[in-house]
Amino acid sequence: MKLLEERIRQEGLILSDTVLKVDSFLNHQVDTKLALAIGREFARLFAGEPITKVLTIEASGIQFAMAAGIALDVPFVYAKKKKAVTLTEKLYSAPVHSFTRQETYQVSISQKYLGPGDKVLIVDDFLATGAALVGLVDIVNEAGAELVGVGCVIEKSFQEGRSLLEQKGVRVHSLARIASMSPGEIHFVEDIPL
Ligand code: G4P
Ligand code: NA
Ligand code: NA
Repeated sequence: MKLLEERIRQEGLILSDTVLKVDSFLNHQVDTKLALAIGREFARLFAGEPITKVLTIEASGIQFAMAAGIALDVPFVYAKKKKAVTLTEKLYSAPVHSFTRQETYQVSISQKYLGPGDKVLIVDDFLATGAALVGLVDIVNEAGAELVGVGCVIEKSFQEGRSLLEQKGVRVHSLARIASMSPGEIHFVEDIPL
């Protein structure tokens, strides 16, 4: 998605060879027009699939799941990272290991909001190690729902997330794929001749 790549070039702050800060337009302050365009792009990429629900994980996936839900005219559900006191129903849950924080946490959603018969599109802001997304894939399987695919806004293609998902037979679409980066320099996958 050219518009997104341009924005990353203009406003992205490359903090190291692995960490990109995009919080002026994607995941702290959010450019609402861009978020809606991202949602339409996910809907276009997965057109033809009768998606019934969009699934993400709090916090930074929410705005893109909502945008995709608007474009597809279906609800979205976000998995919670902490068990809320109001979550008294039966839950689906999966452990996620965070490599950045070196800890394992549970993600969960109420069994009321996902089940057999659902065709699910998973959406998130970053595809990095893929740990959180694999947790969501496990939840979709546990619910007996059908996974249509995973849509990510930014993929760091030099990390293992995409191959982890593809090994599980998951269809992955990312709107910006970073082949490599270092402070002051960024290369998208399509920049590099095969
Ligand atoms: P993940 O690939 O499964 O997300 O796991 P990882 O432990 O690698 O990433 C931890 C968190 O950092 C995730 O957000 C992920 O989206 C985010 N992240 C990974 N790489 C980058 C990056 O280059 N830039 C930015 N800005 N974020 C990155 P999270 O902990 O789930 O929290 P939230 O931000 O969604 O609340
Ligand atoms: Na995220
Ligand atoms: Na994040």
